[in-house]
Amino acid sequence: MSAPSNIRPMRLDDMPACRVIAAECWSRFTAQVAEPEFREAFASSAWRPTFYIAERHGAVVGMAGYGTSWLSYGIYNLFWVAVRPHVQGRGIARQLVDQCLADLFPIADAVMLMTGVPEFYARGWGFESIGTVPQSEGFGDTLMVLRPNLRVAA
Ligand SMILES: CC(C)(COP(=O)(O)OP(=O)(O)OC[C@H]1O[C@@H](n2cnc3c(N)ncnc32)[C@H](O)[C@@H]1OP(=O)(O)O)[C@@H](O)C(=O)NCCC(=O)NCCS
Repeated sequence: MSAPSNIRPMRLDDMPACRVIAAECWSRFTAQVAEPEFREAFASSAWRPTFYIAERHGAVVGMAGYGTSWLSYGIYNLFWVAVRPHVQGRGIARQLVDQCLADLFPIADAVMLMTGVPEFYARGWGFESIGTVPQSEGFGDTLMVLRPNLRVAA
């Protein structure tokens, strides 16, 4: 078991490293479209997303974020969960998602995501698949939900 990574809020000067993560985990095009979303965390809009990054030996190697859905203020979306390929399998994504969910559990009615790796979220945190939504952007087509209050009550 390797040493845990340091998880901290994303900063503006993390942009180049986060672009690299998005390019390695998806594509260079995805990295281009991702950057404005990351920058939204530092904008003055009412519903800014929150992003965390993981640092290992001083380098940014992973990221994850969440934001409120416009469907309902109690529904949050979890997104941009990614870890550089050469450090995958060390529990870094688990730490990042744990941090996001620690923020969300006290305030969220539901946390929703789209993914191509549903087992990662089902096994790790009990996310349930609620359907398949074919989409063309390569982010995965399984729609999943976690209902923190129901989870606590179960
Ligand atoms: C999916 C991803 C984020 C996992 O990152 P990681 O740091 O390697 O994951 P972790 O090491 O924290 O794994 C935590 C647990 O999930 C499991 N896991 C990791 N990837 C998995 C996958 N693709 N499918 C199922 N389980 C997976 C691990 O085995 C581990 O289980 P364990 O605790 O029982 O040993 C990473 O592979 C990645 O960046 N992929 C490309 C981008 C992507 O698909 N992101 C998710 C889209 S929403």
